[in-house]
Amino acid sequence: MPKQRITVKDLLQSDAHGTDVHVKGWVQTKRESKNVAFIALNDGSTVHHLQSVADVAHFGEETLKKVTTGACLGVTGSLVPSQGSGQKVEVQAKEIKVYGTADPDKYPLQPKRHSMEFLREIGHLRPRTRTFGAVLRIRHAMAFAVHKYFNDNNFYYLHTPIITGSDAEGAGEMFRVTTLDARKPPLTDTGEVDYKQDFFGKATNLTVSGQLEGELGALALGNIYTFGPTFRAENSNTARHLAEFWMIEPEMAFYDLEDNMDLAEDFLKYLIRYALDNCTDDLQFLESRLIEEEKNKKQEERSPMPLLEKLRFVVDNKFERLNYTEAVDILVRSKPAQKGQFVYPVKWGTDLQSEHERYLVEKHFKKPVILVNYPKEIKSFYMKQNDDGKTVRAMDVLFPSIGEIIGGSQREEDYEKLLGRVQEMHIPMESIWWYLETRLYGTAPHAGFGLGFERLILFVTGMTNIRDVIPFPRTPQNAEF
Ligand code: 4AD
Ligand code: MG
Repeated sequence: MPKQRITVKDLLQSDAHGTDVHVKGWVQTKRESKNVAFIALNDGSTVHHLQSVADVAHFGEETLKKVTTGACLGVTGSLVPSQGSGQKVEVQAKEIKVYGTADPDKYPLQPKRHSMEFLREIGHLRPRTRTFGAVLRIRHAMAFAVHKYFNDNNFYYLHTPIITGSDAEGAGEMFRVTTLDARKPPLTDTGEVDYKQDFFGKATNLTVSGQLEGELGALALGNIYTFGPTFRAENSNTARHLAEFWMIEPEMAFYDLEDNMDLAEDFLKYLIRYALDNCTDDLQFLESRLIEEEKNKKQEERSPMPLLEKLRFVVDNKFERLNYTEAVDILVRSKPAQKGQFVYPVKWGTDLQSEHERYLVEKHFKKPVILVNYPKEIKSFYMKQNDDGKTVRAMDVLFPSIGEIIGGSQREEDYEKLLGRVQEMHIPMESIWWYLETRLYGTAPHAGFGLGFERLILFVTGMTNIRDVIPFPRTPQNAEF
């Protein structure tokens, strides 16, 4: 008898009929007739289940009673061509070891369709569902592809700190990191919390972006990228925001905005192509799941293309590139603006809302869009100022059903101009002096961007809520599991 465990994925591809195999996993379903039980087993290696057939007389009612949805089993048996449709091979069980039972009256995951909301409440078990298995495998593949892309293109992976004293984006949406006693913090003469007495001797927070340190790396190593957790205490309870998300931030010396756009487009297309080439089974499963789900939706709420076609469409088409100013013109003249259908008004100088971004992408251009040259007032202090005195060299990449997936810019490399913005925005010198010094010593043109990893996974999987593409989501009022 083989002791070595074989994965369900490898088993299903095997044609070694007649050999004995040993497989372990969790029971998805069991169907029983008078003489045989059909047990569908999944071990997380693939979206497909392995059917194993157990003779009731051989195993006895006692053992088979323990084989219920959720139980963990080891099955040893002979690999045979499958009688039923749906799979090529199945396992004729000879031995069954029950590692763990799951009381059918209590086990929360029944073999039926559960709502995503319910599954969030059982985050400790939802990785065992087919949908989450597929999403988590794709998430892994995308993380691997990110590293592969940059490694193949001679970028260095730079580990930027998670605890910092600066607010890179200047939006003030930070989680404080402190060891001071929250009930009785030491105070200064003026009555403010005295962070000099805190662990780091200064006020610190969880990072909102690795960019500032990333720039230090680029101005020494050339091309770098970061890929790590990022924290934002923005109280936005939307389907696209997390308080803890993962961000990929490449930063390149000697790149201008044009180069930055080229890299962003090539990178996104590479990642999506990687998913199409390497995650076919999971994507096909998610596509059919979506089609099933959309049957209950109104025609106009359905996605215009099935998932795989949508992914191929993005890979095959050049992204539309235009100025913020032109985008505002299009939006102002658009039907929804004329009819007052946008919730937020559009006018030059205001930040675009997701409804506006999605109009441009889904209705107007019908493909991904890169918007550039935004008003400086609505963008961060570090972006390179244009000669018009009004706009900065920012770029946002907008995707169908997502809106903004990438935000980036060419950076201000001129010391005086950067210092001017730092002062205008009242950024304390003690938190930013080191960043400014890179513009005093051997400054260079450079650019970079940030890709929200979960937004990418949302797009690739076709899932609709960002809480369902990260194993354990952190959102306002929620840090369970
Ligand atoms: O546009 P953002 O704020 O840009 C930066 O942080 C820059 N420092 C990036 C850079 O130039 N190096 O964020 C970048 C991306 C967004 O486009 C979005 O995809 C994602 O990060 N993102 C979020 N994803 C999930 N939850 C949130 N709360 C997010 N905030 C931003
Ligand atoms: Mg942004």
